[in-house]
Amino acid sequence: MVTKEAACVVLLLLAAATTCQAAGAGGGYYVPPGPGSTTYGLKVGYYRDKCPPAEAIVRRVVRDAVRLDPGVGAGLIRMLFHDCFVEGCDASVLLDPTPANPQPEKLAAPNNPSLRGFEVIDAAKAAVERACPGAVSCADIVAFAARDASAVLSRRGLDFDMPAGRLDGRVSSASRTLGFLPPPTFGLSQLVQSFAAKGLGVEDMVALSGAHTVGRSHCSSFVPDRIAAPSDINASFAASLRGQCPVSGGNGDPTVAQDAVTPDVLDNQYYKNVLAHRVLFTSDASLLTSPATAKMVSDNANIPGWWENRFKAAMVKMASVDVKTSNQQGEVRRNCRAVN
Ligand code: HEM
Ligand SMILES: *[C@@H]1O[C@H](CO)[C@@H](O)[C@H](O)[C@H]1NC(C)=O
Repeated sequence: MVTKEAACVVLLLLAAATTCQAAGAGGGYYVPPGPGSTTYGLKVGYYRDKCPPAEAIVRRVVRDAVRLDPGVGAGLIRMLFHDCFVEGCDASVLLDPTPANPQPEKLAAPNNPSLRGFEVIDAAKAAVERACPGAVSCADIVAFAARDASAVLSRRGLDFDMPAGRLDGRVSSASRTLGFLPPPTFGLSQLVQSFAAKGLGVEDMVALSGAHTVGRSHCSSFVPDRIAAPSDINASFAASLRGQCPVSGGNGDPTVAQDAVTPDVLDNQYYKNVLAHRVLFTSDASLLTSPATAKMVSDNANIPGWWENRFKAAMVKMASVDVKTSNQQGEVRRNCRAVN
């Protein structure tokens, strides 16, 4: 099995090399990094020597899981964001509580109970460990998984090289999430600031917000400021949300689809929803509150391929935030839920 997958990776790399040359010659906005190239200190094909089947194994595990439950794919895309914005892309979001560290990131309000996909990372790590013990970091698995979930949910229209070489961090603290993960009540200038703090630009922020074209949200994330208070939300959309989010009663905190039109497809429908005032969060609606970002929204909504190119580039950029690449900074965890 390992040999077969290794051969498959070699073939994929060869195929990718040809495709990348063609794409580069096209001179488009997004030039895939390409095998062997180094981006932000990370390398495409990093595991080619260290664990040839690594990317193919992760892809298979993610594909199987996302086909069974598309929501898990949404969770994996969000997981990369929540990992990278807190301590950098170092799998800090995966660490379980211990007596010495009872409140890790995953128990913080932005992650608990909403963040999902942890079992898929565990399954991918277990499969990769069987093939190459101790070789592949959990942080790289999170990045590959977000890329692979994007490919599956977009029906493979949206695939890209993900550079690797991240090490896993040893620090994870719930209290450190709040200053870095923007809440859904943020307006435009606050969003721009929180992305700028991680080296991401306005266009990256707008492109990455397009991930809200898949997955679900708890009612509590948008009812107070969007439904229970005056907002620019479309009245018939608000009525449908009210029906799904009972104001009171023992129904807990239900969830609703973020994109009511194509809920399980990673596509540019999000931007059409923003223009139609049919989005859940204040943060989503705020993209229309400056001429520059409103123009980005309509370009993403209307120009074929425009958003896809920016999303791919922004995912690679986000996946490089504060990465740890020296042995002083990190390790390759044996178990993604615990430091070695
Ligand atoms: C721009 C600032 C952002 C804010 C304020 C924000 C906020 C949120 C909130 C409140 C939820 C719903 C959580 C819940 O109640 O269950 C959510 C879901 C989600 N977010 Fe974001 N988000 C932002 C950016 C991003 C980025 C950059 C990505 C990834 C590229 C992303 C991907 C997702 C996905 C896929 C879901 C659905 C998750 C699922 O179904 O499990 N978000 N976001
Ligand atoms: C809300 O959305 C519906 C359906 O798209 C549309 O017919 C209606 O005109 C919208 N309402 C407003 C006030 O824009």
